[in-house]
Amino acid sequence: MSLRPLKEATTYINKQVKKQPTIGLILGSGLGVLAEEIEDKITVAYKDIPHFPESTVQGHKGQLVIGQLQGKQVIAMQGRFHFYEGYTMEQVTFPVRVMKQLGIETVIVTNAAGGINESFEPGDLMLITDHINNMGTNPLIGPNEESLGARFPDMSEAYDRKLVNHAKASADSLGLKVQAGVYVANTGPSYETAAEIRMLRTFGGDAVGMSTVPEVIVANQSNMRVLGISCISNMAAGILDQPLSHQEVMDTTEKVREDFLRFVKQIVETLPETTKG
Ligand code: HPA
Repeated sequence: MSLRPLKEATTYINKQVKKQPTIGLILGSGLGVLAEEIEDKITVAYKDIPHFPESTVQGHKGQLVIGQLQGKQVIAMQGRFHFYEGYTMEQVTFPVRVMKQLGIETVIVTNAAGGINESFEPGDLMLITDHINNMGTNPLIGPNEESLGARFPDMSEAYDRKLVNHAKASADSLGLKVQAGVYVANTGPSYETAAEIRMLRTFGGDAVGMSTVPEVIVANQSNMRVLGISCISNMAAGILDQPLSHQEVMDTTEKVREDFLRFVKQIVETLPETTKG
C-alpha cells in the first residue's frame, strides 16, 4: 500500500467536504437507500476520485454521499467493491483507508448475507459479533506501511463490543428484534454448496456472505471502531428446499429496508463519541 494514491484520493474528497465526517457507512447490496436519507449532502462519484475503483455489481450505485444523518456528519459508500468482481484486496479496502485519512473513527459495515443459523429467518437483521475469514487471502498481505497500522494487528475484538451493545439497545428502543452472530466471508461469486454450509455451521458461522471481512480487517488495522450489520436475505444453501438467487437477495433486502433504515438511523443518532483504545 503506497501512500501517494491514498493522499490524492483524500485530497480530492476533502476539497468538496464542508464539515468533516466522523462516521463511515459501507452500504451493501440493496442497502444503499440509506444514503438517500443523508441531508445537506454532496455526492462524489467513484469514477471521479483519483485511484478509486468503479463499482460494477447490479444494485450498487458507485458514489460517496457525504452529509448529515440524524445530526451526525457521515460519509456513506453507496456500493462497495467485491473481491469476486476481480478487484485486488488493496482495491477492495482502499475506501476504508481513505475514510481513515478523512478522520473517520467509526465504521458501520452492512451487507446482505445467507442465514446459516437455522433459527434465523429471511428478513432478520443480524449484528455481527465476530467473523471468520474464509476468503483464503488477507488484505494486509504485502509490504506493510507502518504509518497506516501494525504489521500484525490484533483482531480479538474486531467488532467493537460497546458498539454491539449500543446497537442492541437501539434495537430495543425501537422494539426491533435483531439477531447476533458470526459472519463468514467466502470469495463467491458462486453461492455455497449445502455441504459447505454444513461445514461453516460446525465452524461456528451464523451467516455467510462475500464481503465485509476485508474492510473490517483494514478498519481494525487502522484503529477504527467497527459495527457490522447483516441483512439475512435468504437461508443459506441446503436449508430450504429451493435454489438461491440474487433476485431473492434483492427482494428480501427491499422488504426489510424500512427496519434497516430505522435501525441504522437510531444507532447513528445516539452513537457514543468515545474512540477505540
Ligand atoms: N451466500 C453468500 N453470499 C450471500 C448469500 C449466501 O447465501 N446471500 C447473500 N449474500
